[in-house]
Amino acid sequence: MLSDLAPILPDTAAVVDGELHVGGVAASALAAAYATPVIVYDAAHVERAARSWIDALADWPAGSLVAYASKAFSSVGMLRLLADLGLGVDVASHGELGTALRAGIPGDRIVLHGNNKSRVELEAAVAAGVGLVVVDAPQELVLLESIARAAGRVQPILVRLNPDIEVETHRYISTSHGGSKFGVPAGVATELLLQADASDWLEAEGVHLHLGSQLLDTDPWRRVLEWLAGWAVELRTARGGRELQSLDVGGGLGIAYLETQRPPTPAQVVATVTEVLGSQWRDAGLQLPRLVVEPGRSIVGQAALTLYRVGVTKDAGDIRYVNVDGGMSDNPRPVLYQAQYRALLAERAEDAATGAWWVAGVHCESGDVLIEDAPLPEPRPGELLAIPATGAYAASMASTYNMVPRAAVVLVRDGEHRPLLRRERIDELFVRDADAPEFRA
Ligand SMILES: Cc1ncc(COP(=O)(O)O)c(C=O)c1O
Repeated sequence: MLSDLAPILPDTAAVVDGELHVGGVAASALAAAYATPVIVYDAAHVERAARSWIDALADWPAGSLVAYASKAFSSVGMLRLLADLGLGVDVASHGELGTALRAGIPGDRIVLHGNNKSRVELEAAVAAGVGLVVVDAPQELVLLESIARAAGRVQPILVRLNPDIEVETHRYISTSHGGSKFGVPAGVATELLLQADASDWLEAEGVHLHLGSQLLDTDPWRRVLEWLAGWAVELRTARGGRELQSLDVGGGLGIAYLETQRPPTPAQVVATVTEVLGSQWRDAGLQLPRLVVEPGRSIVGQAALTLYRVGVTKDAGDIRYVNVDGGMSDNPRPVLYQAQYRALLAERAEDAATGAWWVAGVHCESGDVLIEDAPLPEPRPGELLAIPATGAYAASMASTYNMVPRAAVVLVRDGEHRPLLRRERIDELFVRDADAPEFRA
């Protein structure tokens, strides 16, 4: 079983006496220490994946920044681990910015995103000396300029470009088609850069684009950069010879959720990007820009797995259900975008599958099914079930639906474990709860 699933497990996953271990820690020990569900990150895997981006860009002559997309999973401990390797952070809200600052990430290594940033967010970003604010709309440029002016600080910006290209991924995570809510078309981007050039309070560094997420092919990057070369030449003319200093090509590299998926490596994505820049951009006489990348999923996605406790099993028509003690509150991806996963029984990791079970969550939604038709040995109540590749957009999208406390998130390394986020307590669910007695009849 484990060897079938090796391509989707964290780097240090191993089976010892039939039981799944990660980072040298047994699944049963983690469940005993933190209860279930528990999300377990392999520190070595995170570091290897982060370094593969840093190494891939190390030789780019115009400089680079790897800004981890913290929406994939954000906690102070995780951001510190990545910052120690030289990464910056991409944040998309006041809360994500606050986490990055609390983690001690220097402002100049922070990139702020958002298709509808509030005044408060922009003021916080300017005050923190955020290295790049990625402007997403004309009104935002005007607001940001006034904030930078009032603060007496020159704010470096990128303009988010919508290149209007289709990519192959789920439509909820495709961001570069003409109808996307993100970014502006090329003509508007030119206008915004000219406006910023004319301002004493904005420093127009370049452009940003993010094609979509969970991309399993490098072709979209090639297509967009080939198109971009032509636009960059026109832009240089429009700006009186001023060149793009920075080019942010976003994130988007996919991971293997299923053992059959073979995503490209960061090195392959970077090779595609630098090859087009090195040929088409050079041919067009364009100056090479500093490269910014914003990987999220490809750093943390496969680094983690979630451990659940099996509860009751049940047959309903042709479907055999195995119910676990979490679900859409700790991983909403299956209900949001029909995301697919595999599972294994953590204490019988090498037992062969004997059938296909639907792994159902505890929530009051028929759609709260984490996996349809998961090949498994017959699960028994009380056993631990592991779902690999849950490190991205699971804990960060967690909710307390049905007043279920959020799961612990744990880091493992060399036989030891540490919490990144401890399990939420029931009493913490009431922290925001106000009684409003005056409004009762
Ligand atoms: C602007 C931007 N950058 C980076 C990312 C990270 O993408 P991924 O986790 O697919 O690498 C996203 C994801 O939605 C994004 O919107």
